[in-house]
Amino acid sequence: MKGIILAGGAGSRLYPLTQVASKQLQPVYDKPMVYYPLTTLIENGVRELCLISTPHDLPRYRQLLGDGAAWGLSIDYREQPRPGGIAQAFLIADSFIGDSPVVLILGDNIFYGGSEFRQAFADFRKGACIFGCHVHDPERYGVVEFDADGHAISIEEKPRQPKSNYAVPGLYLYDNHVVAVAKALKPSARGELEITDVNVEYLNRGQLRVYRLSRGFAWLDAGTSSSLHEASAFVQTIEKRQGIKIGCPEEAAFLRGFLSLDHLAALTPRMPNCEYREYLNDVVAEARRLAEGR
Ligand code: G1P
Repeated sequence: MKGIILAGGAGSRLYPLTQVASKQLQPVYDKPMVYYPLTTLIENGVRELCLISTPHDLPRYRQLLGDGAAWGLSIDYREQPRPGGIAQAFLIADSFIGDSPVVLILGDNIFYGGSEFRQAFADFRKGACIFGCHVHDPERYGVVEFDADGHAISIEEKPRQPKSNYAVPGLYLYDNHVVAVAKALKPSARGELEITDVNVEYLNRGQLRVYRLSRGFAWLDAGTSSSLHEASAFVQTIEKRQGIKIGCPEEAAFLRGFLSLDHLAALTPRMPNCEYREYLNDVVAEARRLAEGR
């Protein structure tokens, strides 16, 4: 499965921070925001990636992530000249997608915990697969309504009167028909190609699967100053307590088998002396200890 990271948008809600760097490059505790969705894709076995951003910001992403080879990935880049909606990603990345299924992740969505993603990626064959996550402010999101048997019966984008508390987070799996579905979309009242319209189309075809995320799952969005701060606090809390990092692409690539232990070990001498480097050195030392049965 191929993966798209959408890191566009003006980031106006984060002004003046976005005068310095684009939203998805802002720090979330100890890493740039885009590391988190990137790591989510790696953890789920996606290694062919395409990052979409504005012409202005794309060079910074290239500088940060390169062609992905150092992490056992391939990363393509595509421009989104104007914000035309999330579903526009499938038109922009058409040639990248080719005839593959594709997963789209929003560059400001941070996920942690739970086993639902792993399950969904493993089970995915055709159609579309999205998630429903219980939130207190569903009107800010796409909202999915379930019947008594737990089947999705409606999805609405930012409804004034939400039919449930289940918001649709920014991770979506589609078969290859998604490109044709996106091409047939009409812009919404706000002039965008809505991802919710894509999902409604799959729902109408009887080809949409919706997993409800369990309580053990954390979904943070980092699109406002407050939520950015809260996301940083959350990551810091878990990392300090558990001694593990969230959103560490190098570690995820190693655990997923995209990088050998020797390749992982070769990455850290190129980093400045910092906590991130120490952490990766610890990961290497622990893996060596385990491999040698010590
Ligand atoms: C977008 C989608 C919405 C989804 C949300 C997840 O909203 O339109 O359906 O629930 O991402 O973050 P936006 O970020 O454009 O407000």
